[in-house]
Order: sequence, then structure tokens, then C-alpha cells
Amino acid sequence: MHRVAAVGGDGIGPEIIAEGKKVLDAAGERFSFDIEWHDFDIGADRYLETGELLTDEDLRDLGRFRAIYFGAIGDERITPGILEKGILLRIRFHFDQYINLRPVKLLEGVTTPLAGKGPADIDFVVVRENTEDFYVGLGSRLKGAQKIVLSVERDLYSAEFGLDIRSDADELAYQIGIITREGSARVIAYAFELARNRRKRLTSVDKANVLSDVYGLWREVFSEKAREYPDVSTEFTFVDAITMWFVKNPEWFDVVVTPNMFGDIITDLGAMIQGGLGLAPGANINPKGTSMFEPIHGSAPKYKGLGVANPLATIWAGSMLLDHLGEREAAAGVLSAIERSIAEGKVTKDMGGSLSTSAVGDAIAAIIRKAG
Ligand code: IPM
Ligand code: MN
Repeated sequence: MHRVAAVGGDGIGPEIIAEGKKVLDAAGERFSFDIEWHDFDIGADRYLETGELLTDEDLRDLGRFRAIYFGAIGDERITPGILEKGILLRIRFHFDQYINLRPVKLLEGVTTPLAGKGPADIDFVVVRENTEDFYVGLGSRLKGAQKIVLSVERDLYSAEFGLDIRSDADELAYQIGIITREGSARVIAYAFELARNRRKRLTSVDKANVLSDVYGLWREVFSEKAREYPDVSTEFTFVDAITMWFVKNPEWFDVVVTPNMFGDIITDLGAMIQGGLGLAPGANINPKGTSMFEPIHGSAPKYKGLGVANPLATIWAGSMLLDHLGEREAAAGVLSAIERSIAEGKVTKDMGGSLSTSAVGDAIAAIIRKAG
């Protein structure tokens, strides 16, 4: 018996989570376990009614679960950033979900925009650091008559590169990225362990040639960790270059470990090469605490309630959730049922099919039950 928290959220979130629950329940029947779902009313509607994003009580209650199944948040009535930071990022940070796992795997039967590439070429995992970097929210905007004096320690730098860092600007914004030795070491160690259990190749992403303080430290920690894993082959890539290689030679990659913000960017590219955002799942993991599983697409408000949303990313995230709870066989069963439904053309319109969101959930649940 597993107890799982469910947050439908906004837009298409509740619809896709309903399908995910349906499929996971079917997997429970087939593989003999029960899931007790606990629904949480969190999202834009509640915020607009009560002004609450996440209360201390919500956090305390969510903290009683090992897994949260999360739909999506985002609503056109609310300024961008409020729900994202106040709900999604707050959960990631509060529960110290320092590993953001994003498999980039082209499933059998799915079309990739990359010419000449197939499922054998696109099968890697991005391990995104999830609690540091430019996501720490350390920054400010300054404006007004006050004289703003920025003391730039290295003014030689600006002189050398001809940058115009003004000391008399009347409006200024800055945001600081933080990388810690401990924060990078733990996620890099996780990536090495993962690579060791896969094809034993780990690629580190950074921009140490320009942002050399933060990513210089990241690189140093990576090099140190690499010594503990002589069986894993390693390389560094700059973030700009890796976008090129994802497109040209995706087959090169096995496990990719990246600081937070670069991970955000390159996993949207990853989603595209695996067939689109409708197919890209993610897991926010704290191995010793509360983890969260979600599709990486957003709330797509314009499709809300139309029954056209593709539930596959959410169902796949559900497979990751089962895996995390130790239901390995069921997790694999859900993923192969997804592939099966694709092979049978039982998919939504965005994938060339004609089924509704809930018909796709029904089809996958039926495949799982039949396999038993
Ligand atoms: C993601 C999303 C989030 C992020 C947003 C919604 C805060 O883009 O999960 O990739 O930037 O991490
Ligand atoms: Mn993103």
C-alpha cells in the first residue's frame, strides 16, 4: 500500500493527473499494490480566492508523503512568476528535491524532428541540479533618484572587455547564482551512480569559460568526483555547444549532469527531440524525503477542459513515481503500455491520433490489465 499526494493544479493539470491516477491504479491491480490518493487543492483558483499559494499546513501535510504527483501550474490571470515561484519552486526547495531527473528517450513509434535518428539514437537522462544556481531568488531591482553605486571589484574586467557597467544608472537589476560545493557534489554523485548503472558515460554541462566563479567550482567538484568513478568515462561541454550536439549526435549521450538553469533550457530541447513536450516527464527527487513527479510541460490554459491534452508525459512521470516507490516492475509495465498504445495509434491529436485525453488513459489502463 502506498500513499501518494496528488496536486492537479491549473489548466489541463487536473485532467492529465486524473489519467495518470487511472493508469497507476491499473498498475496496482496488475502488480498487487494499492495506492491511497490524497488530493490537494493548490493552484491559481485557490490563490485568487484566498491569496494563498502554499500554506505552512500544505507543506506540513505534503511532507507526510514520499511522493507527490503534480499536474501543472500557471494561469493567465496571474502575473508570471507568482505561481511558479510560490508553488512549484517552493515545493522543490522546501523538500530539498535536489535532483531533477529528465529522461530524454525516443519511444518506439514516436516521430522525432531529427532526420535519420531513431529510438536507438535518442536515449539519455539529464540530471539537473534543482536547488541552486540562478534559481535561488537572490536579486533585486533598484530604481529612482537615488544614486546607485555598484562597486565592481574587478573593474579591470569591464575595461578589458569594453563592458559598460555604469555607476550612474538610474535603473538596475541584478540576480545572483549560487553554487555550493556540497550542492554540486551531491547531484554529481547521483549522476555518476546513474551512469555506472547505464552505459557508463557522464557529460557535465557548464559555462566555465565565462561564468568562471560559479561554474569553475562546479567543474572542480565534478573532476574530484570523477576520481571516485574510474569506470565511468567523463567529459565537459559548454552549454551552448551541447545544444548543438543534442541535435547532431544525440546517440553520444548517456547521462548528462547540469546546473539548474542550463538544465531548464536544454531539457526543453531534449523534450523536442523525443517527440515534443507532450512526451517529456520529470522527477524532482530527494532520496530521503518527499519527491515530486510531473510532466515538464505547463498548464496549457487554452486546452483546459477540451479533452485534447496529451496525458503521456504525466503517465510516464507516474511510471517514474512507481519506480521511486520501489515498484520497478509496475514502472516498466506502465512505460511499455505507453509504447504499446502509441504502436496501436491510441494517442491524442497532437500525435496524429484521434483519442481524447481520457480515452488514452483508458487505453493504457486496459493494456496494463490485459498484460496480467
Ligand atoms: C521546468 C519549468 C520550471 C523551471 C518553471 C515553471 C518554474 O520551466 O520545470 O522546467 O524553470 O524549472
Ligand atoms: Mn523548463
